[in-house]
Formats: sequence, structure tokens, C-alpha cells
Amino acid sequence: MPVIVDPDSGSVRRLLGALPPGCQSVDSPDRLLPWLAQHSDEYVVVLGPNVRFDDAVTVCEGLRVSRPMTGVILVRESFDTQTLARAMQAGAREVVALNDLDSIAGAVTRAHQFSVALRGPAAAEHHGQVIAVFSPKGGVGKTTIAVNLALALTDKGNRQVCLVDFDLAFGDVAITLQLFPTHTIEHAIGSENNVDAALLDSLLARYQDSLKVLPAPSHPDVRERITPTLISQTLNTLRSMFDYIVVDSAPAFDEQTLTVLEDADETVIIATLDVPTLKNVKVALDTLEMLAIGRGHRHLLLNRADDAVGIDAQKVESILGMDISTQITTSIDIAASTNSGVPILTSTPHHPSSAAIRNLAAMFTGDPVSPSGAEPGRHADVDGERRSRFRIRR
Ligand SMILES: Nc1ncnc2c1ncn2[C@@H]1O[C@H](COP(=O)(O)OP(=O)(O)OP(=O)(O)O)[C@@H](O)[C@H]1O
Ligand SMILES: [Mg+2]
Repeated sequence: MPVIVDPDSGSVRRLLGALPPGCQSVDSPDRLLPWLAQHSDEYVVVLGPNVRFDDAVTVCEGLRVSRPMTGVILVRESFDTQTLARAMQAGAREVVALNDLDSIAGAVTRAHQFSVALRGPAAAEHHGQVIAVFSPKGGVGKTTIAVNLALALTDKGNRQVCLVDFDLAFGDVAITLQLFPTHTIEHAIGSENNVDAALLDSLLARYQDSLKVLPAPSHPDVRERITPTLISQTLNTLRSMFDYIVVDSAPAFDEQTLTVLEDADETVIIATLDVPTLKNVKVALDTLEMLAIGRGHRHLLLNRADDAVGIDAQKVESILGMDISTQITTSIDIAASTNSGVPILTSTPHHPSSAAIRNLAAMFTGDPVSPSGAEPGRHADVDGERRSRFRIRR
């Protein structure tokens, strides 16, 4: 997915609006190289208008030699023929004006086509979308949502989906699905620089034909040996194998979780209607904003969205400063489904929570949402325009 380089968040937002979902951003050319080191298949870098021209030229000259497969698009407020000539000599693929968003989108599409042509048709096969499920609080429903969202995304086997348990110390995806895996991400330790589809395929467990699962290690002390590089390489490789990769995460801001959030195309953030959780979600959102992680690609899910607890959905939106995309009420059926090891989406597909999760999945796939059977509240209001923002461009 394209990476934007620009120190100004307003310009980044403007560019994000023109580019495919899942674009990432870094705030300086200095941060670009470490970022690229973790994203070996990156096909295009978009240098925003606030990157100094001399710095932009240095980036172009460096990448032309070190990463000829990665195109550089230079965006300027305005430019003259001298700027254009200098940028092209340095190795920029295109120079585009900031107010010409269509041309920026076109330049990115051309960079993708060029990359596919260079890497061969296999590169175009999958360009999986990584969806992280995160909350800074434990026990709010991350695993429940991740498991059911992954199942909803499979669309009964029509899409290739992998569910990854990156709650590395206390992951419970496997037990939630009653899987007893022999292999986990632990078996990829030491292969950071050689992660490939064959290795990952050998670690995946299968749930009911339609879903593949990469389980968390079975012992908590393994967590510290799972490096950010291994996490990034794993997600990158899974992108080439699956249409969607849903990542369950730990209730923490450790370096592994931050890497997941940085690499994710979309993040579902879970809150519940209690003051400590809302306080922590607010701090987490502020931190993500400060680090420019997931801007424009965060979706708030309110779990246990029940009446009469003294805080309502509107108050949550005003505290957190963002709209709620999905609400799920407390239901004994959800708790029972966890205990029985059969996710609610499988055990009770017509349950309002199942419908809400299917609609959440539709937000990412661009499928039509079903107004009937949606949870009471806000979810069914996802309109066509909003859905199209999340549609994958292949
Ligand atoms: N809307 C709900 N109604 C009833 N029970 C729920 C609901 N959401 C989650 N639960 C239950 O709450 C428990 C905790 O959920 P879950 O394991 O998904 O949380 P988590 O955020 O992943 O926790 P952890 O931080 O420990 O990983 C589970 O037993 C689950 O069934
Ligand atoms: Mg969990």
C-alpha cells in the first residue's frame, strides 16, 4: 500500500482522501527508510508538499538505486518545468500538483500497474487487507469481535481469510475456536528475514474449511522473542496469500501491538460503556493520532452498548471525538457461544450481534449492508458512499 511522507497532518489527510484504503504515512524522509525496511514489497512512495525539495531529490536518488521497484511520486503545491526536470533526473516517476487529486490517484494506479508488470502476475493475485482489532483494555470483546469478523469476511468460503492471534502472551483465539494447534507463530522465530508463504502455510491451523488461523504462542514468555520485524514480515507475506487478515491484539501499547497497528490498513477499536475503558480508549486514540497511526482508518465499535448504565452512545462519541460505526449489546448468547467454542456467527447467524458483525465486515468489503436484523442503533446507517471508501481496489 502506498506510503505518504509529509510532516503536516492536514496534507496527509488530503492525500489519504485521494488514495486507496490502507495507505500509511510517516512524517519525515528520515522515518521512511526504516519503514521501507519493514515493507519490502512497497510499490510507491508519495512525497507530500511539505517535504523540502532538496530532501525529496535525495529520497528519489537513493531509492532509484536501492529500490528501483518502488516508484516515487512527488506532490508539490505548484511546480515549474525546472522543478519537473530536476525531479525526473533524480528518479521521481511523476510530479503532481496537490490540488489535482485525480492525477495523484492516477499516478499511484500507474505505479501499481508498473510494479505488477515487474513482479509478474503473482504479485497481483492477492493484496490482502489487514484489519486489526484493538482496545487498550482487557476483556472488552476483542477476541470475540476478531473471531466473528474473520468468519463474516470469509462469506462462507468465498474469500480467503486468515485470523492472526497477536495477543502474544495470552492469546485465546485457538481456545475460542476449540483448536489445539501444533504450530504457532513461535515456530517462525529466527526466520524473520526468510518468512515466506510456505513457512506460514505450515503454521496455519484450519477452522471449518473457510478460515485459516495463525495461533499465538502457548507460553507467555515467548512474547518477547517475537520481534516487530517478524510481525511485519508475517503480515506482509499473509497479504500475498489472503484477501483479508484479521489480527486480534493484546490490551497493551507494547512494541508488537504498535507494529500491528502501524501495519494495519484498518483498525477496529473497541470501547465499552464504563469510565475507565473510555478514559483508556481516549488516551489510546490520542497516542495513535500523535504517532500518525491509522489516521482516517479507525472504526469505533461499542460493545456491551446497553441502556441505563449512565453513559450513552452520544456521550461516548463526544468523549472520544469520533463516530461509532458498530454497536453490539450485551447478550448472554455471546457469552454462551464463547463457552461452547462455537462463535455466535456460526451458532446463531440471525442473532442481532451476528448481523451487526456482518455489517461491520460489509464496511470493509463494500458488500451491501443488511438493514434488517442489524443491532438497534447506529450500525445500519453505513451508506454507499462510506462503504465505497473501504472497498479494496484490485
Ligand atoms: N456483547 C457481549 N455480551 C456478552 N458477553 C460478551 C460480549 N462481548 C464479549 N463478551 C464475553 O466477554 C468475555 C471476554 O471477551 P473477549 O475474550 O472477546 O475479550 P478480550 O477483549 O479479547 O479479552 P482479553 O483482553 O482478555 O483478550 C468472553 O467470555 C465473551 O464471550
Ligand atoms: Mg482476547
